[in-house]
Amino acid sequence: MAYVQVENAVKYFSREDGTDMLVLDRVSFDTKEFGITCLLGPSGCGKSTLLNAISGLERLDQGRVEVISNHGSAPSHSPRLGYVFQDPRLLHWKSVEENLTFALKGMSIPHAEWSDRLRKYLEIVGLSEFRNQFPLYLSGGMRQRVGLARGLVIEPEVLLMDEPFSKLDQLTARRLREETLRICEHLKQSTVLVTHDVEEAAYMGDRIIILCARPAGIVDILENPLPPGARDVDDLQFIAFKKRLLQSVLKLMEKDEVPS
Ligand SMILES: Nc1ncnc2c1ncn2[C@@H]1O[C@H](COP(=O)(O)OP(=O)(O)OP(=O)(O)O)[C@@H](O)[C@H]1O
Ligand SMILES: [Mg+2]
Repeated sequence: MAYVQVENAVKYFSREDGTDMLVLDRVSFDTKEFGITCLLGPSGCGKSTLLNAISGLERLDQGRVEVISNHGSAPSHSPRLGYVFQDPRLLHWKSVEENLTFALKGMSIPHAEWSDRLRKYLEIVGLSEFRNQFPLYLSGGMRQRVGLARGLVIEPEVLLMDEPFSKLDQLTARRLREETLRICEHLKQSTVLVTHDVEEAAYMGDRIIILCARPAGIVDILENPLPPGARDVDDLQFIAFKKRLLQSVLKLMEKDEVPS
């Protein structure tokens, strides 16, 4: 199984006045032993920046990020990486299906597999009927589902997901969380999922990394006591874990409120 290793990640962005703003403050973790690692942190703390650094879209100022394959470290063995962006970033001049085939082509997935995969993942996100539609004519939630399907359709070894269910209604989000969990278990992907929803973190994460407000640093790490198949949002054990997670987040917020 491929996995992600982040070591002492430090990232600054420039403010408009030219001063530096620290966004990532020595963040270290790896996803080796875990199917889904959730990054849970407040808005603006640096979660998307961290995913961008893992994907190679953003360069770190210090530290390093590696996506490691069990097949060796040569570039030819670099694991297939899928990224479900916070803003779906679809190609507006291509149809839903063409957006997905563009990803399949980019990852050199054999053409013979395309139609089965398209059928499967469009059905999972509930967009089979809209396969020939262009993104501009879809709702925000539908676009987000296309983004999710595009990340899943390549069946990546490492999957990065940035708040993939945030624009969906409660029932659709619930169904897609279940499906995504099932897919990740089946494909044995190493997944990093960003969220600021405590229940989503408790449901999706095999391990939850809690980040503080900017600059993002790790303040707590909790392992989920329940295996994916045993997570039921109405179950008492699940509710107890969600409570533990919430307490950890609330403790952090109290600290942030103390005037310095
Ligand atoms: N390219 C950039 N240039 C300058 N500042 C940036 C850039 N990208 C992000 N930032 C700043 O870095 C900080 C972290 O942004 P980031 O998008 O990583 O937050 P986030 O945790 O993903 O937030 P949210 O939960 O709202 O999506 C913010 O203050 C943001 O304004
Ligand atoms: Mg973000």
